[in-house]
Amino acid sequence: MYDCYNRRINYLRVSITDRCNLRCTYCMPAEGVKMLDHKDILSFEEIVEVIKTAVGLGITKVRITGGEPLVRKGVISLIEKIGAIKEIKDFGLTTNGILLPLFADDLAKAGLQRINISLDTLDPERFSAITRGGDIQQVFKGIEAAKKAGLTPIKINCVVRNTSEEPDAQAIREYCRENGLEARFIHEMSLADGRFTIVENGHGGDCINCNRLRVTANGMVHPCLFNDIAFNIRELGIAEALQQAAARKPEKGSMNAGGGFHHIGG
Ligand code: 5AD
Ligand code: SF4
Repeated sequence: MYDCYNRRINYLRVSITDRCNLRCTYCMPAEGVKMLDHKDILSFEEIVEVIKTAVGLGITKVRITGGEPLVRKGVISLIEKIGAIKEIKDFGLTTNGILLPLFADDLAKAGLQRINISLDTLDPERFSAITRGGDIQQVFKGIEAAKKAGLTPIKINCVVRNTSEEPDAQAIREYCRENGLEARFIHEMSLADGRFTIVENGHGGDCINCNRLRVTANGMVHPCLFNDIAFNIRELGIAEALQQAAARKPEKGSMNAGGGFHHIGG
């Protein structure tokens, strides 16, 4: 698929749940958010159909996101079904790492190739504050488990407030260097204000080279993180929703009043 600006669309990000086992301050309000109704969430069968159809339209790279994707019941069996789609050349998942000690091996066996883990600080107390109660030791164990399972290269997504020179980010950079991980620095964004920047060491936010579409857990195809438009898979059909989304991809991001990151998966 190509969009109107001649960008080749070959990357699909699929959110499989809007739920999460953490409550990061920049992602969710303290009181939580209204969760999607179970009946609105795409079934595993629907998700696999969406991905197969997308692959038929030229998608070669797939990333599973959330919420936190590993909290979805039966996630390994879903990963297995997607892992069996031979045309996918790059198959990754983004996680907060908390459940990785439990799942890393099975994810790798199911055909997942690599993993991105969100980690903004090395300090247990700061981690607990940012995530509103998360245990950083689980994430460290998760990183080890992912390494052992061969889910590499492992990328660490670090959200920074101002610059990647700030102490927490510097510590993450050093930790990644020592442990064979790749650090990526994401500036804290506000979808509603249209405040976004490129991801240091990554590809997000680089509108000219954008190659992605996003599918939310309830089957809406979003052409752009920083735009409200979306196309409903259950109403339009999968191929039509994907193609319309590609055709309507804006030249560059502006703003999205509709939802936070927990919903669209970053
Ligand atoms: N700004 C930047 N990144 C964010 N993420 C979640 N909310 C925000 C925000 N407001 C990131 C997480 C994770 C990915 C899923 O999205 O840190 O790496
Ligand atoms: Fe959960 Fe990720 Fe949002 Fe944190 S940023 S609350 S880990 S979805």
